Amino acid sequence: MPDHSNDHTLRETGSLIDFIISRYHAVHRKDLAKLQAMARHAAQVHQGDSCFPRGLEWALGELAQEMEDHMAKEEYLLFPLMRAGATLGAVHPIRAMRADHEVHAECTDLILRLTNGLTLPDHASGIWQALYAEIRRFLSDLAEHQTMENTVLFPRFEPH
Ligand SMILES: [Fe+2]
Ligand SMILES: [Fe+2]
Repeated sequence: MPDHSNDHTLRETGSLIDFIISRYHAVHRKDLAKLQAMARHAAQVHQGDSCFPRGLEWALGELAQEMEDHMAKEEYLLFPLMRAGATLGAVHPIRAMRADHEVHAECTDLILRLTNGLTLPDHASGIWQALYAEIRRFLSDLAEHQTMENTVLFPRFEPH
């Protein structure tokens, strides 16, 4: 028998939801708080440096707020419906969650535009370098999270 124990896409729905909350929602909350603090610190270190993206902390804060609202809607509304085995009842909330994912993509596009695709100038300090490395890791996590919901979890409750 092939070993599928690491393939989260094969999990039963309740277990997949548990995994999404612990591996993505909880981690995003910590990461976004940390990223905003790092951006604030880096902006102070690079005060007066025209290369440093001034709106970055604000953009991270917008994304954090959007994501907090979204994850709370999933945790308190959509996921309980799914755990209860809802079928048609989940269709509208899923549509709303897919639309939220598009809004998050607009926020992440803005972050990439502000940072010139996370490109560092030669004189970037350690904190600036660490900030972009952490943003890159966060964006990769967020993409994984959205893909898991959009392509694995949500389709289980959408009419084919
Ligand atoms: Fe989620
Ligand atoms: Fe989501």
